[in-house]
Amino acid sequence: MALSGSNGPTLIGTRIVLGVTGSIAAYKAVSLLRTLLREGATVQVVMTASATKFVTPLTFEVLSGHPVSTEVFEAHQEMKHLSLPEQADAIVIAPATANCLAKSALGLGDDLLSTMLLTAQCPVIIAPAMDGGMWMHPAVTEHVRTLRARGTIVVDPEEGPLASGKVGQGRLADEHKILAALQSALAPQRDWQGHRILISAGPTQEPIDPVRFISNRSSGKMGYALAEAARARGAQVVLVSGPTALPAPRGIEVVPVETAADMTKALSARLAWSTVVIMAAAVADFRPLHPASQKIKKQGQTDQTLALERTTDILAALSAQRTTQLLVGFAAETQDLIAHAKDKLTAKGLDLIVANDITTEGAGFGSDHNAATLIDRQGALIELPLMSKRAMADAILNKAHALLCATASNQASKPVAGRR
Ligand code: CTP
Repeated sequence: MALSGSNGPTLIGTRIVLGVTGSIAAYKAVSLLRTLLREGATVQVVMTASATKFVTPLTFEVLSGHPVSTEVFEAHQEMKHLSLPEQADAIVIAPATANCLAKSALGLGDDLLSTMLLTAQCPVIIAPAMDGGMWMHPAVTEHVRTLRARGTIVVDPEEGPLASGKVGQGRLADEHKILAALQSALAPQRDWQGHRILISAGPTQEPIDPVRFISNRSSGKMGYALAEAARARGAQVVLVSGPTALPAPRGIEVVPVETAADMTKALSARLAWSTVVIMAAAVADFRPLHPASQKIKKQGQTDQTLALERTTDILAALSAQRTTQLLVGFAAETQDLIAHAKDKLTAKGLDLIVANDITTEGAGFGSDHNAATLIDRQGALIELPLMSKRAMADAILNKAHALLCATASNQASKPVAGRR
């Protein structure tokens, strides 16, 4: 990714937590903060108590435009060790002392910065600064190795004159190196660039009368997570969504629908545009045969029978119409998960099915988490243990992408093109 200057600001819309610890290089964090702001980031500074002895919090407050946090619990404030990393796209600690590296490697949490690192899910970039002898100490080397193994990005300090008057490796890395590490940590994978993905999500609502409908417990979260993940990975996405309480994801065309019939129409109309269809919606299988135009009154009745008719099996219909699109379906099951899912994969002519046991605790409808098994046409299974729906979305996209690549290379090796 380009550095500042050539292509304009590179961090617009990102939220960064800048952690500053008690090193003589703390003053360099002021310049780094200004660079991050120039790149368009919103920056919240967190200082350790010893860092405040080198640079005053006021300096960072004035420049960042946000109060500087030093304590885990500040009066009348939320729990910052949870809220700050939750809201951040990345955490940058520059400079990081040997003590900061050790606490992070060992999982110690005795101040806001170290506790925050225990809750962080976003990329963490640590730029150490210390005396050369300390940097070479086996304990520090071991801590850096541990942190890197866990996915923390450590930007090595540089050689040069040190505060002690000696020359060695320990100077805080040049801020452009720290910025480049941050930019590459935030740069999304773009493997879906050039693809057009049609995704369905949420439940459908089948009217009984103007005030009542038949529906199901789908929240739409899995389909929305797929749409966001695909968008972040470079795909153009159209999300055909049944009624949900979710906000429209950024950069994605959302087509709101209500009934299975609406959803059929919306998806069929966009099938030719798409290269991949992912059917995450929980479509009602039946709808009232004669929806009433006026509210149905009780009129003294003690029971009521509702005549239902089948809705279109949208996936099966899309499968019959498709040309080269990859088709991904879901199977929501309460028993015999794999057998039922395999039957659906075959019956609906799919390339991939996501088999969901909706009785798994902590997974399924309404939850932010899911567990599933991916099954392809060759019968290959991939078990996905309980994970966030966003992580599952990425896993599904990884497998779908691998299938697309396999199809493309099969076609390339055939003398005559044409998949179906
Ligand atoms: N599906 C569809 N149209 C329907 C019903 C389901 O396109 N009328 C799609 C779903 O979006 C899902 C897949 O088919 O991707 C399987 O849905 P599921 O509800 O698990 O199974 P059904 O096919 O409805 O079968 P059953 O209800 O008998 O389990």
